[in-house]
Amino acid sequence: MYRTHTCGELRINHVNETVTLSGWVQKIRNLGGMTFIDLRDRYGITQLVFNSETHQELCNQARELGREYVIQIEGNVAERSNKNTKIPTGEIEILVDQFTILNSSELPPFTIEDDTDGGDELRMKYRYLDLRRNMVRKNLELRHRMGFEVRNYLNSQNFIETETPVLIKSTPEGARDFVVPSRMQPGQFYALPQSPQVFKQLLMVAGFDRYFQIVKCFRDEDLRADRQPEFTQIDCEMSFVDQEDILNTFEGLAKHLFKTLRDVEIEGDFPRLSYEDAMKYYGSDKPDVRFGMKFVELSDLVKESGFKIFDEAEYVGGICAEGCAGYTRKQLDKLTDFVKKPQIGATGLIYIKYNTDGTVKSSVDKFFSSEKLLEICGSANAKPGDLVLILAGVRKKTLTALCELRLEMGEQLGLRDKNKFSPLWVVDFPLLEWDEDAQRFFAMHHPFTSPKKEDIHLLDEAPGKVRANAYDLVINGVEIGGGSIRIFNDELQQKMFSVLGFSPEEAEEQFGFLMNAFKYGAPPHGGVAFGFDRWVSLFAGIDSIRDVIAFPKNNAGRDVMIDSPSQVSSEQLEELNLALKLKEAALNK
Ligand code: AMO
Repeated sequence: MYRTHTCGELRINHVNETVTLSGWVQKIRNLGGMTFIDLRDRYGITQLVFNSETHQELCNQARELGREYVIQIEGNVAERSNKNTKIPTGEIEILVDQFTILNSSELPPFTIEDDTDGGDELRMKYRYLDLRRNMVRKNLELRHRMGFEVRNYLNSQNFIETETPVLIKSTPEGARDFVVPSRMQPGQFYALPQSPQVFKQLLMVAGFDRYFQIVKCFRDEDLRADRQPEFTQIDCEMSFVDQEDILNTFEGLAKHLFKTLRDVEIEGDFPRLSYEDAMKYYGSDKPDVRFGMKFVELSDLVKESGFKIFDEAEYVGGICAEGCAGYTRKQLDKLTDFVKKPQIGATGLIYIKYNTDGTVKSSVDKFFSSEKLLEICGSANAKPGDLVLILAGVRKKTLTALCELRLEMGEQLGLRDKNKFSPLWVVDFPLLEWDEDAQRFFAMHHPFTSPKKEDIHLLDEAPGKVRANAYDLVINGVEIGGGSIRIFNDELQQKMFSVLGFSPEEAEEQFGFLMNAFKYGAPPHGGVAFGFDRWVSLFAGIDSIRDVIAFPKNNAGRDVMIDSPSQVSSEQLEELNLALKLKEAALNK
């Protein structure tokens, strides 16, 4: 038997028991005649004691051990004279009588501790060592528990988990597909699913009624902290439901997860915000509503002052930073540099300090009287002691920049507490989005999303104005999930494809199977998919989803541990009937 207990299990009530433990050597300390070893496994750390007076030979051998050696020991549990209150096993130690080296280890390339000295790339290359660290392991344990609770809840609500294929045909979710060449059909390719969207709809046609799947999805897109090329969705679909039913069902799931995983009770219904209001008040379709600081449009109020930037702007908007009137010149300059960063793109920042004595001081004093500045402060709901920050320019770009400024101020004022959760549904998304480069409309969500009944008549004359039965779950400024009520009628689906610029032949070629299925009694249906990795990282209180994925890719989409993607052999290419001819630009990369 390799072990009678784990390294996290022994307590004061085990004193005098003889135990066998197996694990990794975390740390060795030699103190006079004693050698102390911290033995680690998944469950914790137990202190081992080798006494040179009673076990000279054993003690000498223990001193030869290195970090990360795998050993097995037998010994007696004893009460520690010097107790460690920081670990659960800190009241005891093991007086070792015997030990065996199960395996040696090379010196690890970084320290396997919470505060490691290993950089990102190095830890990814040796991810199996990184995974031995507490923090990373805890994230994966949380991920396991969350998957378990999702299944638990959805099972209790009659959902059936069904697998769908991975080698499929392109699904239009808005990113590029990863493709896989077919050996048996030369020159043809499978696509990996960007999501199981069409399959879950076909399962509804099949009468499955309530489906879910915790499923890998693949999207070839530029990566960020919250995006991986392969990620996991909690994918769900329901029949005979309207938007209200879906929001209620999944609010139930969200509340269950908050309760079981974070012990947070969310009272009442999640607030709902229309896409239009989200953009108007927060400049984002995923607003962080842990704090207020809503935008106030000042365009009309500040026009014709002679201040060119305001006079020429399509949009002037401000936020009120409470209690910040005392910001120094240096702090304001820093904020100005922040909004001028190329990725934020504002041309400058205008401020009004509403001093505690009731006076105002502004960067545009020259153009506005004190009365006017006070009026602007009033519109921005500022009180004495507050600071009004204003951006001006083209509407969309300025709203986005103001959103970044609001988040930055929220951060500076400590309003983005990771232990506070503010979920909301953003609803009434536009159905279509105009793409300037392609000069055509794209589906904002995907082409299977239904338009609002009352807006269908606008599909021909003003497609950009049509609202969709689409919704996103947003928590703390993160888009956790999104979904829609689907089109379930082949005529409307064909109409949608035509608005999106598909010819009837192209629509038939790509989606004929779905439109055909709709001819055989498709029930009304709708669904949603949640980003599993994003949700776990939100609960774990971390910003990057990489930390909740066992073997993630780096920002270049590379797995540096197994060194993938990589070339394939000429034999493999031969079998696939492919010859490689890279473009010049690719050769130079
Ligand atoms: P959508 O494209 O909005 O909807 O995706 C659903 C959720 O998946 C997460 N997500 C990602 N997470 C990590 N890395 C990525 N690259 C990534 N892309 C998306 C987000 C997002 O909210 N089929 C529809 C759902 C439906 O209509 O039912 C879909 O996939 O949290």
